Amino acid sequence: MEKLYDSGKARAIGVSNFSSKKMEDLLAVARVPPAVNQVECHLIWQQDKLRKLCHSRGVHLSAFSPLGSPGSPLPGIISVLSNPIVISVAEKLQKTPAQVALRWGLQMGQSILPKSTNEARIKENFDIFDWSIPKDLMAELSGIKQACLKSQHMFLPMSHVIDLSSMFVTSTTWK
Ligand SMILES: NC(=O)c1ccc[n+]([C@@H]2O[C@H](COP(=O)([O-])OP(=O)(O)OC[C@H]3O[C@@H](n4cnc5c(N)ncnc54)[C@H](OP(=O)(O)O)[C@@H]3O)[C@@H](O)[C@H]2O)c1
Repeated sequence: MEKLYDSGKARAIGVSNFSSKKMEDLLAVARVPPAVNQVECHLIWQQDKLRKLCHSRGVHLSAFSPLGSPGSPLPGIISVLSNPIVISVAEKLQKTPAQVALRWGLQMGQSILPKSTNEARIKENFDIFDWSIPKDLMAELSGIKQACLKSQHMFLPMSHVIDLSSMFVTSTTWK
């Protein structure tokens, strides 16, 4: 990747699913540091440690599954959108839980990559730029109990693991 960068064929290098440990290992040897690290990041997996590390080293954090992947067929998935704190904040702001989840991501300084195939939800997801979550409600959101979606699926039967790899794994590493 550094050779491609040197040749001008790549304008920047990006990585995905790099934990703090992997990012530190990479930064210790990279001549061209990554511009971005795309990771699972949402209200139930807020990635505080990784965000601080990336910020301190000039690496942009980009959040996949910012809504917590609500339509996922995976068993036992923890729901961001039905979390009582998220619902309560949404009610106070007269916004939807999805809008709160996305706006929180923007206010934390990350880019967000929500996916929707539904026109009304795409519009809803765009309507997050002319309002903000006040400090006291951001503090409430930071108190949400944390759980990584991926970690819930690390010990599934092989049939699920095969499905998972086609859904989630790109050219990346998780640990
Ligand atoms: N780098 C990686 O390893 C990695 C891993 C996973 C995902 N990703 C990328 O991250 C992006 C999003 O990930 P994701 O699809 O897992 O998670 P997501 O955006 O958190 O969730 C998508 C789900 O949320 C639903 N949804 C969208 N807007 C909604 C709203 N306003 N209210 C209620 N439900 C809503 C969608 O259903 P409808 O379509 O029916 O609206 C869809 O089922 C994708 O582009 C994906 O490729 C990257």
